[in-house]
Amino acid sequence: MPRRNRENIVIAVPKGRVLEQLTVRLEQAGISIEALTAKSRKLVREDTEAGLSYLLLKPDDVPTYVEYGAADLGIVGRDVLMERNYDVFAPVDLGVGKCQMMVCGRPNERIEGKGERPLRVATKFPHIAGQYFQRKVTPVELIFCQGSVELAPLTGLADVIVDLVETGETLRQNGLVPLEKIADISSVLIANRAALKLRRHAIQPLLDELRA
Ligand code: PRP
Repeated sequence: MPRRNRENIVIAVPKGRVLEQLTVRLEQAGISIEALTAKSRKLVREDTEAGLSYLLLKPDDVPTYVEYGAADLGIVGRDVLMERNYDVFAPVDLGVGKCQMMVCGRPNERIEGKGERPLRVATKFPHIAGQYFQRKVTPVELIFCQGSVELAPLTGLADVIVDLVETGETLRQNGLVPLEKIADISSVLIANRAALKLRRHAIQPLLDELRA
């Protein structure tokens, strides 16, 4: 269990590609990243000197830990917050994890209903995709996939995908192109509402350092 004394702050961080950029951002803010980057399978990392504990989580689970107060703060992509409603406060854009939510497909793919049938859209983000096509009044059939979504148009599973594009390399290597942009995405710092209210004196300086 992470230490839960009054001054210790528990931060939920995403494992994976954003973590590297995040550590650079933390260092810029004068926060030691030693505990966070130590080679270990430990999922709780303690920085006792700074009074910080880190929980290493799958990105999608970060807001859940923060909403329920198992973590005071969390770092999460806007895509995760757009896909599901969480009761958390999102005070700081960290300017890392920058990418775009896009509709992608084969070159020249037309984004419209296919005559008798709706456009088939494979995605990890059914809510974001559903809302987007509803605004465009394009009839769609949403097909949920957990990952490697780029395979869907290649195999005939779907006409297009809605997915995150960072460098565009995955699209290029699989013969796909971006067709329409849905949103710019980046990582934000989120806070548990009660923790922010009751322990603002401990949390606010950290928010200020990260916002700077
Ligand atoms: C993400 C995303 C794309 C890829 C885009 O997947 O879903 O597949 O990264 O990045 P790029 O534009 O830099 O190539 P991730 O690597 O998280 O794996 P996943 O397919 O298992 O979700």
